[in-house]
Amino acid sequence: MQNLGSEIRAHPDRFFPQPESYVPKEQAISNPSIHSHKSEEHAHLYRKFRFAPSPEIPEMVYNYLKEKRQPPFALVADVGCGSGQSTRGLAPYFEKVIGVDVSEAQISEAKQNTLDSNISYCISTADQLPFEDGSVDLVTSTTAVHWFNFEKFMKEADRVLKPNGCLALHTLSGYIPLHYKDRSERISAVFKEAMEFLFQYAHECFIHVRNKYQLIYEAIPYTDKKKDDDISETFPMTVTELMGFLESLYMYQTYKALDPEGAKEFLPKTQKRILETLGVTSMDTTVDFVAEYYCVLARKPA
Ligand SMILES: C[S@@+](CC[C@H](N)C(=O)[O-])C[C@H]1O[C@@H](n2cnc3c(N)ncnc32)[C@H](O)[C@@H]1O
Repeated sequence: MQNLGSEIRAHPDRFFPQPESYVPKEQAISNPSIHSHKSEEHAHLYRKFRFAPSPEIPEMVYNYLKEKRQPPFALVADVGCGSGQSTRGLAPYFEKVIGVDVSEAQISEAKQNTLDSNISYCISTADQLPFEDGSVDLVTSTTAVHWFNFEKFMKEADRVLKPNGCLALHTLSGYIPLHYKDRSERISAVFKEAMEFLFQYAHECFIHVRNKYQLIYEAIPYTDKKKDDDISETFPMTVTELMGFLESLYMYQTYKALDPEGAKEFLPKTQKRILETLGVTSMDTTVDFVAEYYCVLARKPA
């Protein structure tokens, strides 16, 4: 799973065939230092505009774990927890939930945004998890595992999981349809074009999202594993929130770092196109946002 930059350019199974002019930016493909999630500004945008995964996901993961291990479940680790969106949904199912992230700024936002008494957070990397051997019932990660050194993370997950403990790795897809009255097709096309434009600034790890976590699924050394690509959720989003979502994407933040002038124009131009396509002027206009997920589940042998 190394050196995936050329695969991004050549990959035959793109969600969106990229227009010729949208050549992935060399500087963005493999330079982790310009991919933030780390700045306070980005973490704040993240907390404000990134939504929790569908409630169907923690429920499905809990049911999977229940098939493999006897409840109650003492501990779940949400690795790459960001500002806690994915962590909070786990609280009803586990005695203790610990969100782990390498970014101090994200952990600070997560702490400010969490009330549940059984959740805590800590700064740590995915390849050095702060847990005892065999102490965790579930290691999970939402829209984050593609950023990790998978081999090191997997070794750590295996170390901390209890026998029959489970791994649940999922991500939001890169394809986001929108619905609005009789303009769904047109507004989806405009949003897709904006996303495609930002894909130029994707890191090489984005290949895993493009191929629906197939390589990640294959790299899990456990035999008892499965993949579910059928989970989706539709919810209302205002144009303000849609623009905030675009701004919160690391690809937009990378664009801003590499081309501040271009990035400054991108948001108002996109906003204008979205409003015109919807035939409205109010930023409070609501569209239906369709979030689709790819999920991988696996059980550590007893
Ligand atoms: C796209 S965000 C996902 C956040 C959250 N789980 C969610 O569902 O919105 C990815 C997160 O992974 C974190 N991350 C990236 N590499 C990491 C690593 N090696 N160890 C721990 N966290 C990492 C980033 O700091 C970021 O907060």
